[in-house]
Amino acid sequence: MRLNTTAEPLEEQNVLLTLLASVGDACVREEGLDGKFQVTLVLTDNEGIRSINLREREIDAPTDVLSFPSVQYPADRTARSCAKRLRREIDIETGCMNFGDIVLSLPKAREQAAAYGHSFFREAGYLFAHGMLHLMGYDHDVASRQMKMRKMEESVMEKSGLPRELLDDDMPLVEGARQAMETAYAPYSKYKVGACLRASDGRLFRGCNVENASLGMTICAERNAITTAITEGAREFAAIAIAVDGNLPSPCGACRQTMREFAKDMRVLLVNREEIKITSLSALLPNSFGPEFLNEVNA
Ligand code: THU
Repeated sequence: MRLNTTAEPLEEQNVLLTLLASVGDACVREEGLDGKFQVTLVLTDNEGIRSINLREREIDAPTDVLSFPSVQYPADRTARSCAKRLRREIDIETGCMNFGDIVLSLPKAREQAAAYGHSFFREAGYLFAHGMLHLMGYDHDVASRQMKMRKMEESVMEKSGLPRELLDDDMPLVEGARQAMETAYAPYSKYKVGACLRASDGRLFRGCNVENASLGMTICAERNAITTAITEGAREFAAIAIAVDGNLPSPCGACRQTMREFAKDMRVLLVNREEIKITSLSALLPNSFGPEFLNEVNA
């Protein structure tokens, strides 16, 4: 799915836009639609959304999300049974069917995320999914329709891979690992792995797997990220994301032990293009051996 947006390409907004595009893809898949679609997204503040709310709906108050479908859906029908109407919305420049516009207040998403105790990214993803479902003909005006819409929201959130335990700091790591995966040198196994490590001082370090015709010389993505971080002077690590294209990854024993050298525990995010699973080093490497075992004999 394509997002047309006025948002400035700040690093955090790039992460947000990639995430919202994948939430959009999950909505399209869940609805069982074929083809290419686009949405125009306006990211604004409470004042911006208030003025649009007043102009378009005569409601003089800020809100979290507004959506303006380009298609008029007949009662109780959604996009899946309105293919012809959607085809009429093809944008000749992009070749995508246009669902309509979504306006999202970023400060409202932040406020609500804090109130619910989950990440800004999860909240923004949820609001976008809600807006997308409106653009696909869903509504919550009567109980039966509300139930259908909630069910769709739940499955979309599950499939968008935005777990409740996700923290705001996790998303740049997840994106970093996905990008590092693209640079992997894996001509022998064809198994591309990317890693992104967050040092305790907040710096991010990436690594990918680098294979060698002398197969044993291969180095894993996680250890590449760690050795880069060490070279740059980092010594303590808070989290690592590991990305592959396919089933969720599992770091090899050597990488787990290398992580353990620099952290008794850390957050570990196992990622593919759609999902995020959150675990920890202590869960992956229980009863572990580490540098402190040697302190006693060296004392
Ligand atoms: N690989 C990693 O990069 N990380 C792991 O934890 C497991 C394996 C790489 C090494 C090799 O290039 C390919 O995956 C297949 O083993």
